[in-house]
Amino acid sequence: MHEVVALLRAATQHPGGLAVLTGAGMSAESGIATFRDALTGLWARFDPAQLASEEGYREDPQRGWDWYAERRENVRRAAPNAGHLALGAFHRRHPGVLTLVTQNVDDLHQRGGVADTIRLHGDIFVDRWLERCRERPACDTAAATPGRPPSCARCGNLVRPGVVWFGENLPAASLEAAGDAARRCRLMLVVGTSGAVWPAAGLAGQARRHGATVVIVNPHPSEIDAEAHHVLRGTAAEVLPVLLDAPGVSS
Ligand code: APR
Repeated sequence: MHEVVALLRAATQHPGGLAVLTGAGMSAESGIATFRDALTGLWARFDPAQLASEEGYREDPQRGWDWYAERRENVRRAAPNAGHLALGAFHRRHPGVLTLVTQNVDDLHQRGGVADTIRLHGDIFVDRWLERCRERPACDTAAATPGRPPSCARCGNLVRPGVVWFGENLPAASLEAAGDAARRCRLMLVVGTSGAVWPAAGLAGQARRHGATVVIVNPHPSEIDAEAHHVLRGTAAEVLPVLLDAPGVSS
């Protein structure tokens, strides 16, 4: 741990010196289920093909809409945990040093104090049209006729959540910014991800190949542990405050 704290101290001396990549484990201690944890993970209880794919949504839009509505409610009720707050405090103390990249579609990093978090997999609170709207000007999802899901009164288009589903491309600008951060950082913390989903999982290797030290924070083994110089077996809310509030990092 003290080696990582020393690396963090050094990283605070450089713009973009610290990149942090987070996954669902980051929000687990805020009461948000992860995806792949045995039994508790969403994919242990629900079929991702049905609920996190365009085909699945088209097959039964109400089932999909209700599932995301419930997840939105869970996120609204959740609060940033000590890990989110430690990242927010670090960001305030060391402007321009941290680039935070998340796979999470919740807003806990933003509520924790890092408003410019790079979102790789979208935002669960954003509404989008299922079909590309052909009207000009384009129809506004906010004006959609209420329903499960809401729909467009003009063209019958359905609303879908603004998250990246399996088989869909990540937002190009977010992916590019995340790649830049990985190549530029001196230290990358990879927190609470199984490393099962690409291209996000590839960011750790990119950072390593560009000379950064990679540190994984995860209570369990992940698919990208081999990319790490250090693995800290602990949780996000336990480990991040110890690292980010350490003397010489917190001031
Ligand atoms: N603190 C840190 N890590 C934790 C904690 C915790 N409190 N609890 C669980 N973890 C770890 C687990 O050990 C696991 O490695 O978090 C990881 C969660 O992995 P996944 O559920 O696979 O989530 P993630 O890696 O974010 O999934 C990637 O897959 O389903 C898609 O789009 C979805 O963004 C998601 C992507």
